[in-house]
Amino acid sequence: MTLQWILAGVVIFLVLWEVLLVLPTKWLKVERIGWEGKTNKKVLQISDLHIRHMRISLSEIKALIDTEQPDYIFLTGDYVDRSEKEFETLRPFLELIQESGVETYAVLGNHDRYIKNVEGLEDLIKQYGIHLLKNEFVEKEDVVIVGVDDYAQGCHDLEKSFSFLGDDKKDVLVLTHDPDVLLEMKKPFTMLVCGHLHGKQVNIPYFFKIANMGQLAQQGIYKGKHDHTHGSFYISKGVGQSRWNIRFFVRSEVTIHSIRSVKKDS
Ligand SMILES: [Fe+2]
Repeated sequence: MTLQWILAGVVIFLVLWEVLLVLPTKWLKVERIGWEGKTNKKVLQISDLHIRHMRISLSEIKALIDTEQPDYIFLTGDYVDRSEKEFETLRPFLELIQESGVETYAVLGNHDRYIKNVEGLEDLIKQYGIHLLKNEFVEKEDVVIVGVDDYAQGCHDLEKSFSFLGDDKKDVLVLTHDPDVLLEMKKPFTMLVCGHLHGKQVNIPYFFKIANMGQLAQQGIYKGKHDHTHGSFYISKGVGQSRWNIRFFVRSEVTIHSIRSVKKDS
């Protein structure tokens, strides 16, 4: 009788583990966010892959890109979790992005700098035709794309990132990893997208007050769209997992940002 109870306990534990902690990592949520701008653009954002801990299939991501046909893909950092050994696992993802034919911009995250061979990772990303922005901007016909390097590692340079000549007719689309860079932001932008906080990943009350994830997280801002003095920003919950390969009441996410032109009455 005792053995039966032990077996039943083990089965219940395994089922609860799978349903509560593993299923949210496999169950992709496509978040759709609307923005007011000066032009019409669709941006698909993928954040925080932590590739050794990503359980969303590449075929699901490919199907989403093919269906959505975005103007741009923004990759907002943490491609690896903590080792160069993940480069080979990352390759098929980068290949998928290249084969999609969508113009893609990327910034690095804090985990990408935990490894020794950061240059190797940068080369790998660029090898697949992805534009890696390190405090750089790209001026297009109707938008300016700005990539601010990671704030958590002190690599950001807002002056350099925003050193383009202001043009009121263009939307300024910013990608970065850590939202805390907004604490120093003094330039106007249409949309800023980032990740880093994983929507808490393990959503237990007060957890983020124990694990210091920065000022915005301490203020209860760790996912979703928010307003800032100089524009609006969005924090993705990410598609992979940091450190432990589990999520609790937070699903993996890919985000579709739709910017729509709003004509203001003169
Ligand atoms: Fe991350």
